[in-house]
Amino acid sequence: MKLGLNIDHVATLRNARGGIEPNVLEAAKICLANGADSITTHLREDRRHIKDEDVKLIRQTLKTKLNLEMAMTDEMHKIALDLLPDAVCIVPEKRQEVTTEGGLDIAGQLLRGVSFVRELVVKGIEVSLFIDPDIKQVTAAYQTGAQFIELHTGAYANAYGTPDEHKAFEDLKKATEFAHTLGLKVNAGHGLNYENVLRMHEIDGLYELNIGHSIISRAVFVGLPQAVREMKELVND
Ligand code: PXP
Repeated sequence: MKLGLNIDHVATLRNARGGIEPNVLEAAKICLANGADSITTHLREDRRHIKDEDVKLIRQTLKTKLNLEMAMTDEMHKIALDLLPDAVCIVPEKRQEVTTEGGLDIAGQLLRGVSFVRELVVKGIEVSLFIDPDIKQVTAAYQTGAQFIELHTGAYANAYGTPDEHKAFEDLKKATEFAHTLGLKVNAGHGLNYENVLRMHEIDGLYELNIGHSIISRAVFVGLPQAVREMKELVND
């Protein structure tokens, strides 16, 4: 599996003091030099961590795949069409949430999804929809014309080590298998850490894992290069 490194929380730390440290572009370079296959940034409506200038600078400076996570809004659509990241992952967004709490309800807004996705795909962008492992949502994601889905692993991560883990894991597995029958490529992410990530190997054909918080947290203790290398080793097939 590939490792997509979500560097949002480097920006969270920087923004805590409003200055320029730690430098987000530098962090992205370190992640890439230590095994990350792509860089993921979530440009939120409230710009609480990553800012427009960060994404632009990363896009202009680095040759490696940039995955832009964004909400399905007109503002973000325009930004993506101007910036032309390699990949876009469409996520639900609520202002009050601490993090992306659930998957996108694409089945409930399919018509809008189809036109939103089409314009991105036409520009050569790989489009992914961040959805819960739910057959109805996988089907709708396929109907939008997106090439990828990213399965929300939050329920699995929360249930890890509890009696609920089995069901949460099986949901991910079944949704992946079903998506593959439709020809979708499947990524996964949210709440994955150095322990619970290992079971992702039990799901055949997952393409990429997008991981942020646990890696940036571990970097506080062991440094970013080592934190990335350790995760890369766990993610590698
Ligand atoms: N994938 C998506 C679509 C996300 O929204 C997030 C969180 O921003 C992640 C992956 C990474 O989650 P975490 O920071 O918990 O690893």
